[in-house]
Amino acid sequence: MEELSMVTSKQFFGRHSLCAIVSMLIVVLCVSGLATVQAAESESSWPYANETKQQRDARMKWWREARFGMFIHWGVYSVPAGMYKDKRIGGIGEWIMKHGEIPVAEYKKFAKQFNPVRYDPDAWVRLAKTAGMKYLVITAKHHDGFALFDSKVTDWDIVDATPYGKDLLEPLALACRKHGVKLGFYYSQAQDWCHPGGRTGSKGKPWDKAQKGDMDEYVRKIAVPQVKEILANYGDIAILWWDTPWGIDREKADMLQPPIRLQDGILTNNRLGGDYEGDFGTPEQKIPATGMPGRDWETCMTINGTWGYKSYDHNWKSTEKLIKNLVDIASKGGNYLLNVGPTSLGEIPQPSIERLKEIGLWMKVNGEAIYATTASPFSKLTWGRCTKKVRDKAVTLYLHVFDWPEDGKLLVPGLQSQVLRISMLANGQLLQAGEHKTGVIINVPDKPLDQYVTVIKLEVKGPLNVKQVKKEQKEVGV
Ligand code: GLC
Repeated sequence: MEELSMVTSKQFFGRHSLCAIVSMLIVVLCVSGLATVQAAESESSWPYANETKQQRDARMKWWREARFGMFIHWGVYSVPAGMYKDKRIGGIGEWIMKHGEIPVAEYKKFAKQFNPVRYDPDAWVRLAKTAGMKYLVITAKHHDGFALFDSKVTDWDIVDATPYGKDLLEPLALACRKHGVKLGFYYSQAQDWCHPGGRTGSKGKPWDKAQKGDMDEYVRKIAVPQVKEILANYGDIAILWWDTPWGIDREKADMLQPPIRLQDGILTNNRLGGDYEGDFGTPEQKIPATGMPGRDWETCMTINGTWGYKSYDHNWKSTEKLIKNLVDIASKGGNYLLNVGPTSLGEIPQPSIERLKEIGLWMKVNGEAIYATTASPFSKLTWGRCTKKVRDKAVTLYLHVFDWPEDGKLLVPGLQSQVLRISMLANGQLLQAGEHKTGVIINVPDKPLDQYVTVIKLEVKGPLNVKQVKKEQKEVGV
């Protein structure tokens, strides 16, 4: 490039054939193109892109220790609750507008029946807390574009479009603060089926001409100001949970990033788009077999088969399954974001309440084996899962026994560290261990203490020394 600038254009055109000119131009274009790509890659409008490991660890600390949170999918879709024109609409409840191809004006009529007079945010937060959840994430706006808050940039919100007429996020934020539960907002930044220009499904094919419009304009006029509203008006917000990246290129993502500066230290997930990875991955409805090494992650999951309320979905997961999922996730170093879908009256369905209370009873006794733990050091355990806490000189292993050994002997395979103390977590009863050539054998009582998962607390001298023993692990999980 330097050489090029040293010759005048006259000399240049005089000396070179057309072919040479073309090839040089190609080189110039390639070099400058490459430079642009490199610049774009190194530039990031995500405020935490360049933080140090220490800064990142500090920002992630509460979330990594929390392990368990509540997801709340709530909106106008809880009115049809899975039914349209007397027909059951297949799929997840909050997608009814898309799956039933309901025209915008028709769908908007449901808002007239969205009157959650039984909404008790304090009770919701207490329920989350009772279950042992440390944070909750609620759909401030889902794909139908309806805002649960008083938005100044649209009338398609709880205050202007419903008989209820009051902001739903404000009292929830107050209750969270009162009970010490962290609050996160889910925001559908790309999909919006009621504001023109919003993305309509994965392929973006509108089913109503009222949806047609310019996505850039939608992002500028609706999404960006609304993200500012939810991050400016409700006190401390711990998480912004983007969903979904469809149609969001780097440019649009860069328009959406700046508002997150309104909340110092906020965490964001990986669903913004524009190749931004955010703070954590979000496996949906599944638990990755070996976690996500090197990455923070959170499995979000329905408690029945739908996120948004559906009157006829009774496919409730059992308490045992939910507890085992939580343990499984913790043993792989992740968080569990478990969903509830309240009704249009503002009630969390009773089967969800029952299960969350039962999980809470288990967590009251065994929470120590979940909170602030890290992933299992064992690659395979035939009888269950393990979580751990590492301190300077000692390591605590929590053995979550799913299948109680009939012969009263529990093998901890490959454990070479010196055993200091073994006890039943629930009642402190001390247990004895014997040497074993492939690890440590613990003599356990005849019967488990817990109907779901019994935890044995095994304290060993640090540093932890485990020799991996290859054995089949029975998959337990979703
Ligand atoms: C999917 C769905 C959405 C749901 C979300 C939860 O992205 O589109 O309805 O809110 O998953 O993870």
